Amino acid sequence: MNYVEQINAAPTIDALERLRVEALGKKSAVSEGFAALKNAAPEEKAKIAAELNRQKEELTAAIGARRAVLESAEFEAKAAKEAVDITMLDFSDRGGSLHPINRAMEEIVEYFLGMNFELKNGPLVEDEFHNFEALNLPKHHPAREMQDTFYMSDGMVLRTHTSNVQIHTMLAQKPPIRMIAPGAVFRRDYDLTHTPMFHQVEGLAVDEKGAISFANLKHILEDFLNSFFGDFPVRFRPSFFPFTEPSAEVDVGCVFCGSKGCRMCKNTGWLEVLGCGMVDPNVFKAVGYENVSGYAFGMGVERLATLKYRVGDLRSLFESDLDLLEQFR
Ligand code: PHE
Repeated sequence: MNYVEQINAAPTIDALERLRVEALGKKSAVSEGFAALKNAAPEEKAKIAAELNRQKEELTAAIGARRAVLESAEFEAKAAKEAVDITMLDFSDRGGSLHPINRAMEEIVEYFLGMNFELKNGPLVEDEFHNFEALNLPKHHPAREMQDTFYMSDGMVLRTHTSNVQIHTMLAQKPPIRMIAPGAVFRRDYDLTHTPMFHQVEGLAVDEKGAISFANLKHILEDFLNSFFGDFPVRFRPSFFPFTEPSAEVDVGCVFCGSKGCRMCKNTGWLEVLGCGMVDPNVFKAVGYENVSGYAFGMGVERLATLKYRVGDLRSLFESDLDLLEQFR
């Protein structure tokens, strides 16, 4: 095959480039022919030069034509491989949506804002004073064991509850106080109903002594739970928290079985949903408050969300499972 035939048959751009070097490069017959011109007989020079130029032009034109063919074939192959059929999926009705945890959180916050509570924020990395000591949980107090704390190297902890915001708020302002504090909290726990990071909404109301009673606490929590869950019974059960006295845990009638008894309520007919109580005098002492009374409560947002939306395994809410999440659109 002569060069023009080889060029026309070159299978790839690389192969074509090798042919170009061979046919027109410094060591090619054409280049050597030009170099030898000076030794040619004077009367022959013009003829030889014209022939060399003709060959050079013929080869250059053939290479250019072949290159165009190969480049367009390469583009077509790439386009075919990377093609996206934009008519295939219809995204027009697939708007995003709030994650069920955010949705529950928003609903809780909205309720209490409507009841004239003010929104507060507090740090996630906390010192032991705000997370424990000021909340009547001195060092070595056995109740600290109730909360499996993540300790940081410099005496700080990841807050184990949103109750630290009670302390920040009371130190920063004078009563009356009516605040809620939603946010992430952290405990060393992982099973069907516990994840190492979860969310709480804290509530605190403080006013002059005698102005706030347990009846006020009971009323607002019952009203909240009825608005959040609908028409389920609510009960207050005596309990213990170091920062409240008296303390109670609040249950709602099992939303899974209608209080008949099932696996979810461990056959009790009740589901625990939050903790609360009257602020312990030692907490007021720690923040320098005198002649006041108040109540506090704390609820787990994931707990409320899994019950409201009937999600069996809390961990599934953290797995970005689209089959689950798409049900909340
Ligand atoms: N901090 C408690 C907990 O995390 C909840 C709570 C808050 C209880 C306020 C009483 C009053 O379990």
